[in-house]
Amino acid sequence: MHNVTAFNNLRQFIEELEACGELKRIRRPVSARLEISRLTDQESKRPGGGKALYFEQVKHSSFPVVTNVFGSSRRICLALGVTHLDQLGDRIREFTEFDAPQSLKEAFRLIPKAVEVSRCLPRRFKSGTPPCQQVVHTGDDVDLTRIPVLKCWPKDGGPFVTLPLVITRSPVSGKRNMGMYRLQIFDRNTTGMHWHIHKDGSHYYQEYCRQNRKMPVAVAVGADPATVYSATAPLPRGMDEVMLAGFIRRKPVVMTRCVTVDLEVPAEAEFVLEGYVVPGELRREGPFGDHTGYYSLEDDYPVFHVTAVTHRRDAVYHATVVGPPPMEDCYLARATERLFLPMIQAVMPEIRDYWFPWEGVFHNIVVVSIDKEYPGHAWKVMSGLWGQGQMSFCKAIVVVDPAVDCQNPEKILDAFVRNFDVQTDITLTLGILDVLDHSSPNPTYGNKIGIDLTRRFPNEEPRIPVTVTAGTITDEPIPDALFESVPEISGVRVIRPEITTDEPVRNHMLAVSVQKSVDRGGRYVADMILNDAGLARFNLIVLFDDDIDLNDASMMLWKLFNNVDPGRDMVIRQGRAVVDACKKGAMDGHHREWPDDLTFD
Ligand SMILES: Cc1cc2nc3c(=O)[nH]c(=O)nc-3n(C[C@H](O)[C@H](O)[C@H](O)COP(=O)(O)O)c2cc1C
Repeated sequence: MHNVTAFNNLRQFIEELEACGELKRIRRPVSARLEISRLTDQESKRPGGGKALYFEQVKHSSFPVVTNVFGSSRRICLALGVTHLDQLGDRIREFTEFDAPQSLKEAFRLIPKAVEVSRCLPRRFKSGTPPCQQVVHTGDDVDLTRIPVLKCWPKDGGPFVTLPLVITRSPVSGKRNMGMYRLQIFDRNTTGMHWHIHKDGSHYYQEYCRQNRKMPVAVAVGADPATVYSATAPLPRGMDEVMLAGFIRRKPVVMTRCVTVDLEVPAEAEFVLEGYVVPGELRREGPFGDHTGYYSLEDDYPVFHVTAVTHRRDAVYHATVVGPPPMEDCYLARATERLFLPMIQAVMPEIRDYWFPWEGVFHNIVVVSIDKEYPGHAWKVMSGLWGQGQMSFCKAIVVVDPAVDCQNPEKILDAFVRNFDVQTDITLTLGILDVLDHSSPNPTYGNKIGIDLTRRFPNEEPRIPVTVTAGTITDEPIPDALFESVPEISGVRVIRPEITTDEPVRNHMLAVSVQKSVDRGGRYVADMILNDAGLARFNLIVLFDDDIDLNDASMMLWKLFNNVDPGRDMVIRQGRAVVDACKKGAMDGHHREWPDDLTFD
């Protein structure tokens, strides 16, 4: 395998992907409006993530487009110079174990101390014209519409730059931030600047607003793969993502000064957009087919005024298409999961491992295994995670013992089915939520759920004993009376996880197809189900919209993790629970707009 230190730029990585058989060339002319995204969506849904796609001819543009370059286990490893993503964590661990840090920020600070500083810190481009400035357009010559920016999904508000490395500097601390925040192209020289409220770019913007100063912004598109990844990494504020890229590459990123703003960008970038954001100037942006698999709704975001577009003479436009998982971003997220584990462990050493199932689209659910030492230990871990950087967006945290392999969905389901006790294992709390969460009645904050599946210590509240064995989940038909008394219910399916022994299991699960009426929401259906004697043998019942295939486990999990507000959408009574994973509306007390699923009809 190629040594990653050699990837100075995107084109070297593309060459390597091609040499490894990981890249497909599409030679016929294609459109940047929906066609490239549809082909990319199809490709990334192939087993293992398909290949990277290189579109040689894009209609109405002189630049080629490359997509899906990180979208497989092999390609993300190649991008980050490892054969297994845990090697990234192992490299970090060498430093966090060296000197126990007290916080995530401190953990990250140890890295440059421990390695040769010169390996991490960015270097200045020295001689001649930097590659990213071989062609320079400024003033009236700026025309963003020449770049083949993709319109990804049919209802998108326009074309969006989907892999931008947005570089800003705090006017207070002078620290740099490089974050990935999408840009909607409005016209020849303006875009939206979609930094979510909790992100560092937004924080620095607020600092500029307080000083009532224009905020310089530079955006690189298409850089070496470690640098592109690093823009997505949830580093604590004030930590330089360009330095993380240097750490991953084992080689500094070479930066060059912008032409019209006082910022630096990766000299080897394919494209650079330079400009500024004006405090208080907002414009409606979106909708955008997002990585949740739903459209993120229209909203007001700052406007980016572009003063210069610079690029390589033969620039390649680098894009990603996000949508219903699994897609390319799942592999970027997996890299973050593995890279950040040792930093989280540095602060909470009881954590053995964790896993973000892709159906949870990262912010909805994490499964954590811990070495439990004392009563209430799982709650301590939940609280810790909910207070930690972007982990604090997480809606659900499930805590298991190390005996349960938290990377193995079957083992987790097995532990859940056997042990989960609705009455003792649930913790509900409040906190911030990812801007993309659509289940909460209020955007950006709301209900969270912790599920403690760890074994009980003698002085903890015991689970209610169970005697029913797996074999007793019967095939008895569901009484027709149910469908007559609750016309909203159109189908049911008994969920029968593979339980191999005859040990008692606590949970008997039923999935129910529902079409809600204008005045009868999930709680009404839940009440009817809980009162139905024919269903008394089921203690966990999940409601799905009637267009969901109840045989598609992955689809059902995706809906469950995305659509449920844990405080509002669960009815719990006498050890039984009905969870409403349907879309919500006024009949459920949900008064925000509910986003559409993404499809390419
Ligand atoms: C493909 C992709 C697109 C993203 N788009 C956005 C976005 O538009 N807005 C946003 O706030 N975060 C977005 N993110 C997540 C951020 O890049 C991520 O949270 C990052 O850590 C933010 O950097 P910061 O911590 O420096 O703010 C995206 C991530 C990926 C992988």
